[in-house]
Amino acid sequence: MAKKDRYAVFGSPIKHSKSPRIHQLFAEQTQQALEYTAKEVTSERFKESVVAFFAKGGRGLNCTLPLKELAWAFADLTTKRAELSRAVNTLIIQDDDRILGDNTDGCGLITDLTVNHDLALTKSRILILGAGGACRGILAPILECSPHQLVLANRTQQKASDLAAEFCIFGDIDGCGFADLKGQQFDLIINATSASLADEMLPLQDDLLTPGGICYDLAYGNRPTAFVRWGVEHNAKKSLDGLGMLVEQAAEAFFLWRSVRPQTKPVIDALNAARNFVSEV
Ligand code: ATR
Repeated sequence: MAKKDRYAVFGSPIKHSKSPRIHQLFAEQTQQALEYTAKEVTSERFKESVVAFFAKGGRGLNCTLPLKELAWAFADLTTKRAELSRAVNTLIIQDDDRILGDNTDGCGLITDLTVNHDLALTKSRILILGAGGACRGILAPILECSPHQLVLANRTQQKASDLAAEFCIFGDIDGCGFADLKGQQFDLIINATSASLADEMLPLQDDLLTPGGICYDLAYGNRPTAFVRWGVEHNAKKSLDGLGMLVEQAAEAFFLWRSVRPQTKPVIDALNAARNFVSEV
């Protein structure tokens, strides 16, 4: 039997990564002969681990927390979307052995919002919470959808203002602190802070979400995040977590590696069934 092409995800912690399951399902569905494993790799071991992986014939890598910025710095060449986000989640070995770095996170989010959930972003007043790496990765793809309004709010207001100033070349965007949101309402609120990881809730006013609006947490877990619960409690039409984005960014990486686009819905359904919770109300 021919040897299977090897792929992997590196990160720390990595034990609970859903990526091996996602790529296994993609491979079965598209009949691609590949294996995909998860490996615990810390920042300190990143470079030697990546070099060893490709030296042994690995074809492509995903990098997750805390390695995305290191992967961006490591890649021999990068795509425009990776440059804008200053982060790389997908490495691909080229025919000339150079390593190309791309970032499929932003496009994964947009596909989940617009295709899977049928949201018209052009008509939406959008609020993004947070101004760290996760936020940077989604700003350009969202602005390219020409939203009706885009506001970026962060605990440390200066970081939101700085990011807004950097990305205003792509469209209208305002940066502010949480307190400045008083009196404003949004159709879509995206949580890009790391507060969910600590199950912490942000100080959001009760009338921040338009009645029937959508909440979306970039984070995900085996139970609803604090922000997803906030959305449910504040009458969101849908209160979603980042599982759909996770599968969509993986599908885009799979396409970059294999030139085959897998169907994502059956995989999202399988993962939701496995955690016994569908992030939708
Ligand atoms: P990531 O790469 O996941 O975005 P990061 O760069 O460390 O991580 O950024 C974390 C983001 O979550 C920041 O916007 C941070 O706000 P500050 O810039 O003020 O630090 C935000 N964040 C984390 N915990 C938070 C909390 N409990 N309340 C509000 N914001 C929080």
